[in-house]
Amino acid sequence: MRLRNVKGAREALAESSYVEAAPEANRGAWRAVFGNEGPIHVEIGMGKGRFLLEMAARHREIDYIGVEMYASVLVRAAEKLEDVPELPNLRFLNIPAETLETVFAPGEVDRIYLNFSDPWPKARHAKRRLTSPVFLKRYEGILKKGGLLEFKTDNRELFDYSLESVEAASWRLLQFTYDLHGDPELGRGNVMTEYEEKFSGQGQAICKLIAARI
Ligand SMILES: C[S@@+](CC[C@H](N)C(=O)[O-])C[C@H]1O[C@@H](n2cnc3c(N)ncnc32)[C@H](O)[C@@H]1O
Repeated sequence: MRLRNVKGAREALAESSYVEAAPEANRGAWRAVFGNEGPIHVEIGMGKGRFLLEMAARHREIDYIGVEMYASVLVRAAEKLEDVPELPNLRFLNIPAETLETVFAPGEVDRIYLNFSDPWPKARHAKRRLTSPVFLKRYEGILKKGGLLEFKTDNRELFDYSLESVEAASWRLLQFTYDLHGDPELGRGNVMTEYEEKFSGQGQAICKLIAARI
């Protein structure tokens, strides 16, 4: 069975208080949704949510929004929340990243995380990579000036492509490493994702870059 066809996922998400059913209605008003003036950090392609749940638990002063296009994947994150203390600083959106600008106003987002994004290795699919110039433009449309993009992957080709995209799009590349877990500075406080645990467990090095929107 393909994950995206898991039965009942949409119904389960509709019942979760963490899932925003009509996120476009909150465009420009996300701080009111959370009821505070804290920074808003968005993870795109959050998968089953391990990273975001841990970040939201560690950093209560930051509001986290996870974006995931497949209901059948997102429902796994919603299920995990049933077993942990409430996280009022966390919300999920079941939308494709292509629609981010309909959900966030210009400058509304303080930071974007991309973790182990699908590599789309064929050149004809390059536009689908979440670090392609077309996606970087979308992020520029929602990130505040000076806001950060943090990207982790085990895929060296995708990482090198992403370094080039970021620099060509005239973002400011602040830091990068080809061995996050061996890097005392960038590795400090690192929260592992599901994919990160899997790939690093197989001995693969993890790459990370941090870039700022100018
Ligand atoms: C390889 S998984 C990584 C999941 C998680 N970030 C991790 O590190 O464990 C990539 C995730 O991104 C989601 N995804 C891919 N393209 C997307 C898009 N355009 N919009 C939203 N989600 C997307 C996929 O459905 C999948 O759950």
